Amino acid sequence: MEKLIVHGGAPLKGVVDISGSKNSSLPILAATLLTRDTCTIRRVPDLSDTNYMVRILGELGAEVERASGVVVVKAENVASVAPYDLVRKMRASICVLGPLTGRLRQCTVSLPGGCVIGDRPVDLHLKGLEALGAEIKVDGGDISVDATQNFRGGPMNLMGKSGSTVLGTGNVMMAATLAKGITSIEGAAAEPEVEDLANFLIKMGAKIEGAGTNTITIEGVDQLHGAEHTVIPDRIEAGTFLCAGAMMGEGITLRRVNAAHMQTVLDALRQCGFTLTLGRDTISIAPNPSAKGFDLTTLCYPGFPTDMQAQFCALACAIGDTSTITETIFPQRFMHIAEMKRMGAQVDLEGATAKIRGGHPIKGAPVMASDLRASAALVLAGLLSQGKTEVNRLYHIDRGYEHLDDKLASLGAKVERMRE
Ligand code: EPU
Repeated sequence: MEKLIVHGGAPLKGVVDISGSKNSSLPILAATLLTRDTCTIRRVPDLSDTNYMVRILGELGAEVERASGVVVVKAENVASVAPYDLVRKMRASICVLGPLTGRLRQCTVSLPGGCVIGDRPVDLHLKGLEALGAEIKVDGGDISVDATQNFRGGPMNLMGKSGSTVLGTGNVMMAATLAKGITSIEGAAAEPEVEDLANFLIKMGAKIEGAGTNTITIEGVDQLHGAEHTVIPDRIEAGTFLCAGAMMGEGITLRRVNAAHMQTVLDALRQCGFTLTLGRDTISIAPNPSAKGFDLTTLCYPGFPTDMQAQFCALACAIGDTSTITETIFPQRFMHIAEMKRMGAQVDLEGATAKIRGGHPIKGAPVMASDLRASAALVLAGLLSQGKTEVNRLYHIDRGYEHLDDKLASLGAKVERMRE
C-alpha cells in the first residue's frame, strides 16, 4: 500500500488541468454493453475505478482497448452473469445491471456491498426495472433479473427518502432505451453525469428527452449502434482544487472545466469572500485572508454536492470563522472528522451537522484515508497544516483523483508518494 506525505504550508500557484469525470465515465463505459458495435469513449480518467470498470467489461466478454484516456469497446457477445468476485471491489459496478437487462433481458448481477459512507441500498434501481416489466429476485447476494416476458416502457417515480438516485436513474434509463414504448421517470436525478450518459445514449441512437431535469422520457428503440463520446470535466475534482486554491493559493487557475456544472460550489466560495474569475473553460480563484464562514447543506443537484462536503470541512479549518455543514444524502459520511480532529481541527459533530471553528493552526499527523472524498479532505488539511501529514491508504484517492499528487506538486505543494 502507498501513502502520501504532505509537508504543509507551501503556497499554491499556477494552472492545473482538470480530468474527465469519474462518475460520468463509469456508467458511460457500462453503456457500451448495450450494442454489438464499437464505441469510443474519450477523456476517461486514469483511475483505479475506471480501470476496474474496463476489467469488468472485459470479463463480461467485451473487447476493450485503452490508451491515454481513450477507451474503445466492442461488446459483440456479452455474458449475462456478473458474479460477486467481479463486482465486489467497486459499488459502481451496479451500473452494468441496466445495460445487461436492456441487451439480454435476463441477467444476474451480484449485489455490491455497503461502504463507509453508508449502507447504499439499490431498491430504487430494482423498482425502476420492475416498472419496465422485469421480474426480480434477490437471493444469495445476487440480483436476478428476468425481463423476457413483458419488457416495455412505463411510468415510474424513482424519488427516494434521501432524494433521487444517480446510478439508479442511469441504470433504468439505459435499460429503457431498448424497452418497447415510452418510459417516463419522475424523481430522476438531474446530475450532469446523468445528462452526459443520456447524451452518449442519444449518440448511440436512443430517444431520450429531459435528461438534466427531474423528469426523463425515453422512447424505446429496437437497437443501439456504436458511437463516440468525450466525457464531461470532473466537477468534483475541480471543486477539490478550488478548495486547495482557497486554502493555500496565491492564485490558481483550473483549465478544462465546466463552470455551469458547479454553480452551487462556486456560489458557496463567493459567499465566503473568495474571488472567482471565469473564462470559457477556466476558473481562477484568488485567496482572501478575511474570508467568512459558511452554512451549507448537501442536496441533490443542483444543490450543494455531498461529494464536496469533506473538502469544505477542510476549507472551513482555514477560515477564521465558524462554519457548519449538514449532510442529508449520506448522513454518516463524516469519517474525515475524527482524523481532522487528530490534526487539531476544532470540529463538533452533532447528528449529521459538522460545526467547524476555523483559523486555528492545525498540525500534521499520520491519518487514515477512509473513502475517496474523505481522503481528499485529509490531503487538503495536510496542505494547510504545520509539519508533516501522512495520509495512509492512498488507494482510496487513486480510485477517483487522476494523479492528484503530481497535479498538486505542479502547483507548488510539497507532496511525496511512498510505500507504507
Ligand atoms: N438510495 C436509496 N436507494 C437506492 C439508491 C440510492 O435509498 O436504490 C439513496 C442513497 O442511500 C443515498 C441517496 O439515495 O442516500 C443518493 O444515492 P445515489 O444512488 O444517488 O448514489 P450513487 O448513484 O450510488 C453517485 C456517485 C457518488 C455520489 C452519489 C450522490 C457514482 C459512481 N457515484 O452514487 O459518488 O456521492 O451519486 O451524488 O456516480 C464519489 O464520487 O465519491 C461518490 C461516492
